[in-house]
Amino acid sequence: MKDMKVLLTEKQIKDRVKELGSQISQDFAGEELLVVGILKGAFVFLADLIRHLDIPVKVDFMDLSSYGLSTESSGEVRIMKDLEQPIEGKNVLIVEDIIDSGTTLKFIHEILQRRNPRTLKICTFLDKPDRRKVPVVSDYNGFTIPDYFLVGYGLDYAEQYRNLPMVCILDAEH
Ligand code: IMP
Ligand code: MG
Repeated sequence: MKDMKVLLTEKQIKDRVKELGSQISQDFAGEELLVVGILKGAFVFLADLIRHLDIPVKVDFMDLSSYGLSTESSGEVRIMKDLEQPIEGKNVLIVEDIIDSGTTLKFIHEILQRRNPRTLKICTFLDKPDRRKVPVVSDYNGFTIPDYFLVGYGLDYAEQYRNLPMVCILDAEH
């Protein structure tokens, strides 16, 4: 196991996800929401978030892949799995683990916007604004964080550590 330092505890995450759920429930009160999770990183956050939504919710997933397994996004994105349903006229909330360069979210936002949803919003668990290369703004964000490579709560390094219940800085001593 590499060196790890806890950045966000299980309790901090739990409290914040609950707040986000209340905020989203208020904003969409009386409406139905299609929650679109971006695989794989968002699945843990999404699973907790939707249990704090007290409005009618449907869930679908997209899998977008940037090439490679390194800690740097390559800037190239492709669709590995698309949505199972049309989104025209629907309230759509994209749920993503983290915005880094912004490449992934800009790509998916543009694709989904072209399908004419009623509303299209973005909810991210983490935001690393220092790393942004393309302009994307999250409508709902859990935590704004400095430029560390993070694992846990769905976030991986080479597919490992998604199962950690907290968020850790990978290789904290280097
Ligand atoms: P972007 O396209 O550069 O914004 O990168 C977004 C994707 O890169 C996320 O969905 C994550 O899968 C991955 N990513 C970015 N930063 C981290 C990190 O600190 N830990 C784990 N994955 C990350
Ligand atoms: Mg990932």
